[in-house]
Amino acid sequence: MKQILIANIKELINIEEHPQLSVAGKEMSLLKTLKNAWLLIEGDRIRDYGTGIPDTGYGIRDTGSGIQDPASSIQDPLTVIDATDRLVFPSFCDAHTHLVYAGSREIEYVDKIRGLSYEEIAKRGGGILNSAKLLHETSEDELVEQALGRLNEIINLGTGAVEIKSGYGLTVEDELKMLRVIRKLKEISPLTIVSTFLGAHALPADYRGRQGDYVDLVINEMIPQVASEELADYIDVFCDRGFFTMEDTDRILNAGMKYGLRPKIHANELDYSGGIQVGVKYNALSVDHLEYTGKKEIACLIKSEAMPVILPGAAFFLNMTSAPARRMIDAGLPVAFASDFNPGSSPSGNMQLILSMACITYRLLPEEAIFATTLNGAYAMGVSDDLGSIARGKKANLFITKPISTYEFMPYAYGSNKVERVILNGEIARSEIAKNS
Ligand code: NIG
Ligand code: FE
Repeated sequence: MKQILIANIKELINIEEHPQLSVAGKEMSLLKTLKNAWLLIEGDRIRDYGTGIPDTGYGIRDTGSGIQDPASSIQDPLTVIDATDRLVFPSFCDAHTHLVYAGSREIEYVDKIRGLSYEEIAKRGGGILNSAKLLHETSEDELVEQALGRLNEIINLGTGAVEIKSGYGLTVEDELKMLRVIRKLKEISPLTIVSTFLGAHALPADYRGRQGDYVDLVINEMIPQVASEELADYIDVFCDRGFFTMEDTDRILNAGMKYGLRPKIHANELDYSGGIQVGVKYNALSVDHLEYTGKKEIACLIKSEAMPVILPGAAFFLNMTSAPARRMIDAGLPVAFASDFNPGSSPSGNMQLILSMACITYRLLPEEAIFATTLNGAYAMGVSDDLGSIARGKKANLFITKPISTYEFMPYAYGSNKVERVILNGEIARSEIAKNS
């Protein structure tokens, strides 16, 4: 089997001798690393890691000045990567995006600068409905093409796993179309992708005044078809003021549960919507946004298995209040941070920027922010048994940084790309883009 040895690693970040599915509270500051390390990849898996020079049992020869050449006796092809002065991280796991969309919405962005709110733009047919119109007019192939560009961009920024939602279809046909695009992306992209059905993202204009009828459509037509074609791993509802109520959400999640669709929901972005409570009632894997989270909501989350997912890109871009992530961790909760990559409230999938925002705006320590964007993100997608940390047997999705001083430098030096090489599924996905920068 093909092997890759990454040698002379200055520091190997987020190693787990005993892998956990997520980390919470104080544990989030206890990030484990290994200095002067090596990492061996076999096939698409992390085979082993250690300090200094790897065991000769792997057939790797020490030439006296560090590891340079594979031993000539070795049967399988071995690639050696010299990571002198560089750090190795597990890839980012971005647990919340809407990155399948058509075109862009920068004109609304200017309207926002002029003073219109997100909800006002939505009310006059802009926002999500604008993206739904554009999506309707765009072919599946073109949507795949546009999304692939975004996927390649985030690969280069260090993301290795991503969740993608539907929700710009809003008709049976177009929701299925979006989910088929996501299925195609799963087939052709080296990223690990999970898909979420978000039929209840916004009320289409022709259902105005008949919200119950649209909820019926989601329940009676969309969910059964999505389930019968196995197009989604999870189900989502935008449970918030001006969008879907707690009662709508309860009905939809109940219907989804009957088809084995576990919730990952949008909750409490615009108000104390009750979304957290209804999500927890249906054993949500994650509850996301959470700008409006008080004592009651934190108490509810403590008793649950739901991962709170914070989306700093949306709060930043819409210039809105920030979720109380610090208070959540201090209360003993886990948190994940994700990009929310979408054309309306967060047109960026840059997880390095999210890592910086987690530290700067939300006062997470770098160690906590690294867990929030890797292992806890993986949990919020249901893939943390296989991704999100450096552990023997886990999938080899990781990145090698440019020469940098410490792991704290990653969130500190915000705005620039610190990733030099990416390995996904044990394959080098991108090499030396930025040697000279
Ligand atoms: O997560 N809040 C709801 N949905 C997206 C925004 C989608 C859009 O505006 O296109 C979000 O922020
Ligand atoms: Fe979202």
